[in-house]
Amino acid sequence: MNYAKGLQDLDNEVTHAPLQLISGQVPPWLKGTLLRNGPGRFSLGNEQLLHWFDGLAMLHRFHFDSGNVQYSNRFITTRGYTEGMEKQKIVYPAFATAPNYSFLQSIIHWFKKPESGQNPGVSVARLGSEYLALTESPAIVRFDDHTLSTDEVIDCDDEVSGEITTAHPHYDFANKYLINFSLKFGRQSEYIYFKCNNNIRKREPIGRIPVDLPSYIHSFAMSERYIVHVAFPLVANPLRMRFGNVPYIKCFQWKPERGTRFTVLEKSSGKIVKQYQTDACFAFHHVNAYETGDDIIVDMATKPDASVIDDLYLEHLRTCQGRPVRAHSQLQRFILPLKNDEIRQETISQEYLEMPTIHYRGHNGRNHRYVYGIGSYQDRHEDFENQLIKIDTDTGTHVIWYEEDCYPWEPIFVPAPNSSDEDDGVILSTVLDSKNDQCFLLILAAKDFTEMARLALPHIIPLGFHAQFFSQS
Ligand SMILES: [Fe+2]
Repeated sequence: MNYAKGLQDLDNEVTHAPLQLISGQVPPWLKGTLLRNGPGRFSLGNEQLLHWFDGLAMLHRFHFDSGNVQYSNRFITTRGYTEGMEKQKIVYPAFATAPNYSFLQSIIHWFKKPESGQNPGVSVARLGSEYLALTESPAIVRFDDHTLSTDEVIDCDDEVSGEITTAHPHYDFANKYLINFSLKFGRQSEYIYFKCNNNIRKREPIGRIPVDLPSYIHSFAMSERYIVHVAFPLVANPLRMRFGNVPYIKCFQWKPERGTRFTVLEKSSGKIVKQYQTDACFAFHHVNAYETGDDIIVDMATKPDASVIDDLYLEHLRTCQGRPVRAHSQLQRFILPLKNDEIRQETISQEYLEMPTIHYRGHNGRNHRYVYGIGSYQDRHEDFENQLIKIDTDTGTHVIWYEEDCYPWEPIFVPAPNSSDEDDGVILSTVLDSKNDQCFLLILAAKDFTEMARLALPHIIPLGFHAQFFSQS
């Protein structure tokens, strides 16, 4: 269980390095670019970032063409990185790490707008011709998808601006809109859902959800007509969030007595059409939502509580041999009836599932059958996610890819050309092979998880977060 090898600093940056095949063959039809975001370093001088989510953002690019793959990686060079490297200290607040401010700096911090966008290391998106790196603070980084250079920090200051957002916007393919929300703190805090068409700087409000104690919400779901907003009982005091000099996540407290609150917002009108409450749970990631008859189906990778956040502190992760890692979650289905108030809940599979993905282009907001993710082989509670899994939501069955001492991360589905089946395509994942001290790019057939190819990477990539494949077409 040497996944801690994936939690070390990576200083090496390479440009368009051809990857060598270890085995198999890359499908020649695979043309496009896989862009992945995640942490690249966890220390600045003698100072340590405390949490896995705090690592300084690095982009990874895998370009596929005619059976060959080129790889590049580069740090995102916002001020959080450049000033931190220059001063060899933590300069800006992070998810769970506060800078070591002097008394004067603390006073200044009280009166200024919180610094944002200094470490957009969670996900990537494309809107129009622009490639964007995202995190939960509202500023967004535009980068060059060929060189991975950091080109611009976009800090929209408009009627939908807030202090917090998600790194998981959705794309409404039918209406050609990107949709996300801002959380604005105040005496009456509110989530403001907004949309933008091909330009992240031109945002229009969709609807607002007022809230007394805002929840930590990492993602949301969207069906064809509705936004499904799920507020877990990990809640913050807005004033402490705005004026307290404590790390962001330390402002939140677990209050299970509040339950989990669902709000259904109609995309076309912005009206709240339904609200529900059910037992307390926690999730980082929604899988998808879709309408069927008078119900909305919402799939999520849920956990009983939010203790996972504490378990992802680097000190715990690096030393947790034999102790549980509560990152594990399961695929739960929530059935929201539009004509009454009783939520129904089903566990689709007993297997662990995190970083869930689907055939997004074909099924986001519409009925999906297959969910891909990372999981835990033979329920090894003490280990980090160590297998890839595909769950069939119709049957509850699953297939896995597993290899001893290997740690794969978020699987990305790419459909085959002219495919008709939902799972006709490949799965792309990067894998830490701790026994051989290397990482490799893994390509699986999505139907049965047979291995099609693996290619050696030039270095160990720190365990990371989210990716997207952008087809050449
Ligand atoms: Fe995420």
